[in-house]
Amino acid sequence: MLKRKQSSDGITTLIARSNPKSVIAEQYRTIRTNIQFASIDRNTKTIMVTSPGPGEGKTMTAANLAVVFAQQGKKVLIVDADMRKPALHLRFRKTNEQGLSNILAGNQTLQESVYETGMNQLDLLTCGPIPPNPSELLGSKAMEEFIEEAKENYDLVIFDTSPVLAVSDAQVLGGFCEGTILVLRSKFTEYRATQKTIDLLKSVNTKLLGTILNDREKKNSNFYYYAKKK
Ligand SMILES: Nc1ncnc2c1ncn2[C@@H]1O[C@H](COP(=O)(O)OP(=O)(O)O)[C@@H](O)[C@H]1O
Ligand SMILES: [Mg+2]
Repeated sequence: MLKRKQSSDGITTLIARSNPKSVIAEQYRTIRTNIQFASIDRNTKTIMVTSPGPGEGKTMTAANLAVVFAQQGKKVLIVDADMRKPALHLRFRKTNEQGLSNILAGNQTLQESVYETGMNQLDLLTCGPIPPNPSELLGSKAMEEFIEEAKENYDLVIFDTSPVLAVSDAQVLGGFCEGTILVLRSKFTEYRATQKTIDLLKSVNTKLLGTILNDREKKNSNFYYYAKKK
């Protein structure tokens, strides 16, 4: 039986759902538009959200992007492919008793494992029990088959991932995902880490659809704007 679990920040971090008229929700919609432009000449159905290190906003970004794509009418599956530190279940106030790892181990089907989210167009696949060999599982034939099945059942599949520089999982998954969104955290992610991450992502078969500068202070917006133009 699936049970509900409370989480302290589930509401605030899914702001695109709880407060769709907010400035932040509007920014997620702008990112959605930019992703659509970046993938205009191909029908991108699989997108992974990643970043160089931990705590930069991958999970928050992935969850909110899934919400705004679903609000647009797309049938979306969001998948927790961070098999080191799964967190999507907390955002959606679910437990992590079952999920992707069960499917990859051949113990469960996609239909048996997905959660409803309260939004018609959005389903959630949590990580499930943490396996001992995440990168092996993410690069497996079973993963490839799971992605094919997910693409048949959904318009868009969004993956939350582990940090690129910590482990090879995101790179491995990048081999299966048509597009990648790179999240950087303002005043936190270092330039060299960003460069290294982009280089690593370039070496796999995924298109960098865009980079999100997360947590940028509003008062600095002019500074960044002018700094860029120099
Ligand atoms: N723009 C932001 N403003 C405020 N808090 C944020 C912001 N982005 C991320 N956080 C918080 O920072 C923490 C790490 O974010 P998370 O999305 O879990 O990062 P990651 O998945 O990259 O490890 C979470 O507690 C999240 O709520
Ligand atoms: Mg995360």
